[in-house]
Amino acid sequence: MTKTHTRYVCQNCGAESAKWIGRCPSCDSWNTYVEEVVVSSKKSFDKNISQGKSFSSITLTSVEYNEKKRIDTKINELNRTLGGGIVPGSVILLGGEPGIGKSTLTLQVAMKLNDIRTLYISGEESAEQIKLRSQRLGNIHDNILLLCETSLETILSAIESINPQLIIVDSIQTLYSEYIESSAGSVSQIRECSSRLLRYAKQNSVPIILIGHIVKDGSLAGPKVLEHMVDSVLQFEGDKQYLYRILRSTKNRFGSTSEIGIFEMQGDGLQEVSNPSEILITHSNEPLSGIAITASINGIRPYLIEIQALVSSAVYGMPQRSSTGFDIRRLNMLLAVLEKRAGFKLGAKDVFLNIAGGLKIDDPAVDLAICAAILSSNADLPISNKICLSGEISLSGEVRPVYRIEQRISEAQKLGFNKIIIPKANQKNLKNIKTQVELAFINRVDLIPKFLYG
Ligand code: TYD
Ligand code: MG
Repeated sequence: MTKTHTRYVCQNCGAESAKWIGRCPSCDSWNTYVEEVVVSSKKSFDKNISQGKSFSSITLTSVEYNEKKRIDTKINELNRTLGGGIVPGSVILLGGEPGIGKSTLTLQVAMKLNDIRTLYISGEESAEQIKLRSQRLGNIHDNILLLCETSLETILSAIESINPQLIIVDSIQTLYSEYIESSAGSVSQIRECSSRLLRYAKQNSVPIILIGHIVKDGSLAGPKVLEHMVDSVLQFEGDKQYLYRILRSTKNRFGSTSEIGIFEMQGDGLQEVSNPSEILITHSNEPLSGIAITASINGIRPYLIEIQALVSSAVYGMPQRSSTGFDIRRLNMLLAVLEKRAGFKLGAKDVFLNIAGGLKIDDPAVDLAICAAILSSNADLPISNKICLSGEISLSGEVRPVYRIEQRISEAQKLGFNKIIIPKANQKNLKNIKTQVELAFINRVDLIPKFLYG
């Protein structure tokens, strides 16, 4: 017997309810319930349902796995973010704001893999539009098959007859299954379409890249279950004003999630940025006040990042604090530490902070450079452009040790810095280090000006 009725589904977490609710009791988000049609076919419950089902289990030792099977995407930044290439049978969700470059990146992957039959399913663009884009990106080869289609059933039958080695779906929100009544992009459609694609991927060991839209607050559109189902979640971020795009993995069953890949959007597509430090710092001959360079680590790679601060007297009653790319609460904490532990009068000053290149950083080792940039701007004294800093600052005003200090020092050396100011607590581990960079060990925040200006 088939019965049609409607229910309300939270578009954020997929929770269901018989009536409309303003605030989802399961994920606490507001105004996310949308009415969806459900068709249910009733099956009478058979308590003997498990009888006669065949199964096969194997011992873990007998499972063979070969690391070489990973597909090399020929884009190093993407390979690294994925933990060394695409694992066969894995499902990767690539999310990002509209216009950030998701379609460009996936098409570039397909175009680089000329020995792998790739099926590019587009529900958003026509074949001509994709062709136009591909002409900007480089060489076209015969191993890319296009399918401009949104019906899941048609797509699955096409996949079965084409038998591709890699599938790209642009985007999961445009697909719909004929068995589900609700419109494309709704929670039930996304759940159904992705779970059927997932089943295909696992059964046939074919990797699938799903492109997903993100909602206003930056999270992926669609049910949270989608993120749980897939093997890896990659977020493509970056400010539209900047050319740099950062690929970040927020979930990865086959690698670390601390890796990031950096790209630059150019006229001929996304180009890899393999030496980010060189572009992230301005190489002005004359040092400017309020600029400090830090050696920060993201994943396994060290970066030198430019911190820009501007401190000025507050014109209006309440001093303003604003920060781009760095947690504003931590900025307030650092300002309080500078005031209380080192006696700098910043309470009545406006403080603006910016991380160059549109980067967002959460490495605690940038604290020291942030304080240095603020003090430099406050005193209007430039810091030599041959000095960089790395260190975490505690509430007591102490400079705390940072991890992987050797890598930070060697990155500073590579880029021609003469001196690096680092925590005293790191000194004992650096007895045998050979470096041309002068190491200056600092232990308290009130000593920053002395270390910077002698
Ligand atoms: P796109 O991949 O369509 O973004 P998404 O699929 O995430 O919505 O990227 C579109 C933007 O990239 C668009 O603003 C134009 C720009 N772009 C370039 O600058 N150079 C190029 O070679 C391409 C293909 C796009
Ligand atoms: Mg697109």
